Amino acid sequence: RPDLRVAILGCGTVGTQVVRLLTEQADDLGQRVGRRLRLTGILVRDVDAPRDPAVPTGLLTTDADALLADADLVVELLGGTTTARDLVLAALTAGASVVTANKALLATSGPELYAAADAAGVDLLFEAAVAGAVPVVRGVRESLAGDRVQRILGIVNGTTNFILDEMTTGGLDFDVALKQAQELGYAEADPTADVEGHDAAAKAAILASLAFHTRVALADVACEGITAVSAADIVAARETGGVIKLLAIAERIVTTDAAGEPAESVSVRVNPAILPFAHPLAGVGGAYNAVVVEAEAAGRLMFYGAGAGGAPTASAVLGDVVAAARHRTHGGRAPAESAHAALPLASDADV
Ligand code: NDP
Ligand code: HSE
Repeated sequence: RPDLRVAILGCGTVGTQVVRLLTEQADDLGQRVGRRLRLTGILVRDVDAPRDPAVPTGLLTTDADALLADADLVVELLGGTTTARDLVLAALTAGASVVTANKALLATSGPELYAAADAAGVDLLFEAAVAGAVPVVRGVRESLAGDRVQRILGIVNGTTNFILDEMTTGGLDFDVALKQAQELGYAEADPTADVEGHDAAAKAAILASLAFHTRVALADVACEGITAVSAADIVAARETGGVIKLLAIAERIVTTDAAGEPAESVSVRVNPAILPFAHPLAGVGGAYNAVVVEAEAAGRLMFYGAGAGGAPTASAVLGDVVAAARHRTHGGRAPAESAHAALPLASDADV
């Protein structure tokens, strides 16, 4: 079989680790897929910027069009919603499979991109977009596809969990903890998205869409971040036997309509909350993420692990790369989304 041509868009925190793993594990990955994965190029803004030694600098380019013209599989790790949207759409339209870690992109342009993937009959996979290495997208989309999800409760932003944890256990100031999270590669390029809750809201929108087979966009998620959480709030929470966490909550709400019939809606929100020490999410520390999913038949499940950082995120990206490469080699395709229900958003009075 001819090599499968892989183009990578972005070589920052995540892209560097994806390039490293793809290169170091080339032989194993080729055997798992059934043909060799050949890295054809890596899109960056500045080809002369210093890079990790694992990056083959001869493959760096600023020519997106040439890169896309020579790719079977495109891995989008740029971030942002403009260039990333244009390039992902162009790749799908040209018939390439796409893997992305970009939750902001999916929560704003998801339907357009899912439609392009469907039209081309190719994969658009995004395990790394929610909770880093934790396989919660696959868990909700595939493992729970036969069940009826009622509620999702999660810590889905590593940066804010790290900051709150450092403020709680290490006594660090907010700004110092944020700076550490940036240095460790957990934060977004603009960390406003983390601390104001928008990143968690994008992930909540993605999970809610998959869990309830409907479409929830970023704008549908009521959102409050952690910038107003003070050291005094943290002490006060501890004195009442609890810990402050930034939670993403998505739930199916059943009310009764005017005719007395049951009416379903979905509520999705992100806000800081005090959890009692005994709660399963209370002990989630550092940049770890955890998502509790309650489903009718399965009961309560918990997904837990590293939620941010280059290598853990690259693990999830590579899992999708292998899945898409196998499909291109042996046939088959993962559904881009499963939206068929049109659940309205719950009103404040219903929640
Ligand atoms: P970085 O900011 O570290 O890296 C971005 C990369 O994209 C850089 O190599 C940059 O080039 C390149 N780039 C950005 N814009 C352009 C452009 N217009 N044209 C060409 N190249 C461009 O981001 P991360 O690696 O942290 O994140 C990448 C994606 O992964 C984001 O969507 C993020 O939300 C997501 N993600 C990140 C996680 C993390 O822990 N960091 C975890 C899960 C998901 P140059 O190097 O030349 O500046
Ligand atoms: N900035 C994100 C976080 C990266 O801190 O969770 C992982 O999506």
